[in-house]
Amino acid sequence: MRGKLVIAMVGLPARGKSTMAKKLSRTLELDGVKTRIFNNGELRRRMSQELGNTSHATFFSPDNPEGVAFREKIAATNLESARQFLSDIGDVAIMDASNVTQKRRRIIQETFPAFPVLFVECMNADDEALEANLERKTDLKEFSHYTKEEALASFLKRIHYYESIYEPLTLEPNRILVDSFESCILQEKVTCQVPYYDRIRDILTTRVVRNLFLVRHGETYFNLEDRIGGNSELTEKGMDQAKTLAEHFATLRIPIIFTSNHKRTLQTAEAISERQDHCSIIALPEFNEIHGGICEGMTYTEIRDKMPEISRARALNKYHYVYPGGEGYKTMEERVHRGLKKVFYLNNYDENIMIVGHRAVNRMILSKFLSRQEEEIPFIYMPQDRYYHIQIDPHKRIFELIPYSSTLT
Ligand code: F6P
Repeated sequence: MRGKLVIAMVGLPARGKSTMAKKLSRTLELDGVKTRIFNNGELRRRMSQELGNTSHATFFSPDNPEGVAFREKIAATNLESARQFLSDIGDVAIMDASNVTQKRRRIIQETFPAFPVLFVECMNADDEALEANLERKTDLKEFSHYTKEEALASFLKRIHYYESIYEPLTLEPNRILVDSFESCILQEKVTCQVPYYDRIRDILTTRVVRNLFLVRHGETYFNLEDRIGGNSELTEKGMDQAKTLAEHFATLRIPIIFTSNHKRTLQTAEAISERQDHCSIIALPEFNEIHGGICEGMTYTEIRDKMPEISRARALNKYHYVYPGGEGYKTMEERVHRGLKKVFYLNNYDENIMIVGHRAVNRMILSKFLSRQEEEIPFIYMPQDRYYHIQIDPHKRIFELIPYSSTLT
């Protein structure tokens, strides 16, 4: 018989707990382990009819007896559902809640005297990624009656209430502390037989790509003249390409589109998001196009004619060459990698992720998923009338270039 297990998430809001919980649940399910998530936040929103709106900050104050009682009731309801699930067909129950106090964690352990409980505490020390995550949260339906500023203030206050009662994991016999931005384990202690433990460690530290659509922006005025860099806008054909893409993706749910800060990626993403139900655009400076330094805005012919030494040196070793005052593929590597970490952290383990990027940046992104020699990376095919679809999980590996056709030529 396979063992039964309770995984209890721990951590402040917006620290990546639900993303980790979903990743654990989906991968274990793919392994044939019957897994279910019991999410207190979702249950609170569903049960809110009883109390009215429960998204305002004071609901979460430890000094609000009504809020405390309601949240305890939600926790108890989910614990009872999890108990039933495990006594029936279930193998792994994941309690997705902040579980920030020792008292709450003791109740979880007491509810399951016959099964081990593994506490997974999520933290994130990257302020920028956290800030971006908070910003994303303010887009949630439960804040729709607030302005963006009000939503942010309310969410920060909610976090403050949780911080005021936070007790990190110390006493619990089985615990892992995970950095959810870096996807690495910082501490672990396991004092009894925990089923699937090695698998769980793998899942916590592996970045899984469910469906990544890697798109290059539509044609720009600079593209028409073969000019590099800059912040050019889309041409009429570029706009048409963006609309064609929007049509192409209209029946797929794309919750977030990641772009660079440049107008061409934003314009492309805006067209796509207009055909979606609820889609946020998150611009990451890490995905800005390679900076051409003193060559920014020049055509390749101009560079060849006016600065032949640059053309020659770049042709000799394109991956390592750095434009004077600018960047090279090699020097972009770290920032692009950091951008990808943000994507994984922010996407909430949603089914579909889209990145609208640039020629060089998209090559660097692709190179993170493909094993390519450095010298091949600057030559990866990156057209404007196709996009890459990537899917990588323990059971699947898909990598395909998919055409979409714009009517304008
Ligand atoms: O021409 C478009 C562009 O995105 C430029 O902004 C950038 O310098 C270039 O492509 C990168 O491609 P390559 O490294 O092949 O010059």
